[in-house]
Amino acid sequence: CKKIKAALLGLGTVGGGVYKLVQRQKEEMVKKSGANLEITRILVHNMNKQREGVDASLLTDNWKEIVEDPEISIVIEVMGGIEPAKTMILEALCAGKNVVTANKDLVAVHGRELLDAAQENQVDFLFEAAVAGGIPIIRPLKQCLAANEIDEVIGIVNGTTNYILTKMFEDGMDFSEALAKATELGYAEADPTADVEGLDAGRKVAILASIVFHSRVVFDDVYTEGITKISAKDVAYAKEFGSVIKLLGVAHNREDGIEVAVYPMMLPKNHPLASVRDSFNAVFVHGDALDDAMFYGRGAGELPTASAVMGDVIDIIRDIQFSCTGRISCTCYKNTPVKSSDD
Ligand code: NAP
Ligand code: HSE
Repeated sequence: CKKIKAALLGLGTVGGGVYKLVQRQKEEMVKKSGANLEITRILVHNMNKQREGVDASLLTDNWKEIVEDPEISIVIEVMGGIEPAKTMILEALCAGKNVVTANKDLVAVHGRELLDAAQENQVDFLFEAAVAGGIPIIRPLKQCLAANEIDEVIGIVNGTTNYILTKMFEDGMDFSEALAKATELGYAEADPTADVEGLDAGRKVAILASIVFHSRVVFDDVYTEGITKISAKDVAYAKEFGSVIKLLGVAHNREDGIEVAVYPMMLPKNHPLASVRDSFNAVFVHGDALDDAMFYGRGAGELPTASAVMGDVIDIIRDIQFSCTGRISCTCYKNTPVKSSDD
């Protein structure tokens, strides 16, 4: 059966999970995709770091070895940040390689440019893991719900802050101790300010709003407020009212434009989003045909995120075999006015 070669950019929490899943799923991969997937190169920053269970001969800190290798047809970017990730992804797409990324920072700002580059080069650019970790959300919204006019998306889309709030409410843990635990568990970003200030959730809501409203919503369009000001007093107050506090990402398509925001909100305990605990995420959508739907699952962490990344990789392997890469990345956006976060 056909052998398909891939390169991994980054071997941290998510990259480590992807590597483990590829090893673990070797046999199943052939059954699921009809091809043998092999990771032949892994780009890292620090070549001297000890990495248990990884074939050291695969490691490199030289990007040229990957982009100039004609046998590598899939690049999996899980290193994060804007640069050099953006340049590498563009170079990979222009070299005719399919790309999978979990990088919401990048997609929320430069997604359009990267999708255009993929379309021009007839390759796939997929980013299921960029929103809500392991929950299938991008593809269901883009494909399965394509027949709907969606007017509302509300969700808990950051695992770190949901974990912190859960620990503050249920165990009386203080904010910094809960954040340290979330970091230890691999949920937090390299700079957790992005999590606790609502920026990470803002990036994800921008991506979701772009997809469901067929528009170009970028991170700067999103009003963001995080959870750093929530004190033990607020927790006690919410409890007195039989409520919890959740960090919500909210997007509405109204007659006068799109509204996108992230803010903490007090929810009564019987609200469906109130029972979303720990690092779990949930996304609620309303479509004119479907009515209400809710997507729920692990929003962060090694294997849940790797699960979403590998779903994209398997789709690409199928596309390569049917010579139809570029098909699933193709998206048409109209320019719907987005209300500025200062309005
Ligand atoms: P991480 O644990 O910090 O790992 C980053 C990896 O990238 C490390 O292996 C690092 O190399 C490598 N790297 C960073 N900069 C590099 C550079 N300039 N050149 C070569 N290698 C470089 O990060 P992570 O948590 O896995 O997150 C990776 C991406 O997935 C981010 O975009 C993040 O937002 C996204 N994401 C994360 C989660 C999650 O739960 N963690 C969930 C969804 C999406 P060294 O090992 O040598 O330092
Ligand atoms: N730091 C992110 C979170 C990782 O906690 O949700 C998943 O995108």
